[in-house]
Amino acid sequence: MKGVILAGGLGTRLFPLTKITNKHLLPVFDQPMIFYPIQTLVEASIKDILIVTGGNSAGDFLRLLGNGRAFGLKHLNYTYQEKEGGIAEAIGLAEHFAEGEKVLVMLGDNLIFESIQDEVEAFKRQRSGAKIFLKKVQNPKAYGVAEVKSGRVLNIVEKPKKPKSDLAVIGIYMYDNEVFDIVKTLKPSARGELEVTDINNAYIGKGTMTYSVLKGFWADAGESIGALAEAGRRVFEYRTKRSK
Ligand code: DAU
Repeated sequence: MKGVILAGGLGTRLFPLTKITNKHLLPVFDQPMIFYPIQTLVEASIKDILIVTGGNSAGDFLRLLGNGRAFGLKHLNYTYQEKEGGIAEAIGLAEHFAEGEKVLVMLGDNLIFESIQDEVEAFKRQRSGAKIFLKKVQNPKAYGVAEVKSGRVLNIVEKPKKPKSDLAVIGIYMYDNEVFDIVKTLKPSARGELEVTDINNAYIGKGTMTYSVLKGFWADAGESIGALAEAGRRVFEYRTKRSK
């Protein structure tokens, strides 16, 4: 299974920090944000990785990451998203890279501490379809929110005004190769983007979506400046606890 990390977008919610640089290059405690999703993929034995970047400072990713030697990789792949057309548009740019294989897509501003190796292995065995991760949160309105019944996801609503549950869809998605056909059928949402939630609802409609609930820490560090600061604090705490 191949890995795709999305690091495009303008990061307007983090202005002025993102006025002259890309959100994913900002520090979260002692590392640039983009290091965390790369580490998550490598720890799950996904070593063929594409970074989709865009907007400001795209060249800085090459200078920072090179061929990924610091992560034990021999090579890293890069592509450029010309406009901020949405997460689903950015996923579509990975079609050539995927070469018919399944893909794990991780949003470059999402951070987790636990290993997802078991879920990755389970998805390799899943005949077709998609698998997402859900996490109980206090502020579901800020995310895609899943309605779940009897072990199945019934639907996902993007940033609902009246959430039907407190289960956020976190930014780690596993798809079979059909995802690229689904992206081609999508229409831009009210905010002018191709939405990942529309991809996920397409799989739910086909009855091929599975999910797993994440037990440990999750942060969407790009959600707001407060979320970025809090993510840094949590990483600091986690590292200090582990070194004691
Ligand atoms: O963090 C989880 C949430 O991420 C999900 O619950 C939502 O369903 C999902 O839509 C997404 O919401 P956000 O509003 O947080 O997405 P954001 O615009 O911040 O983009 C997330 C990442 O995707 C970010 O790291 C940059 C990348 N991205 C985004 C856009 C719009 C791109 O690479 N290209 C893009 O065009």
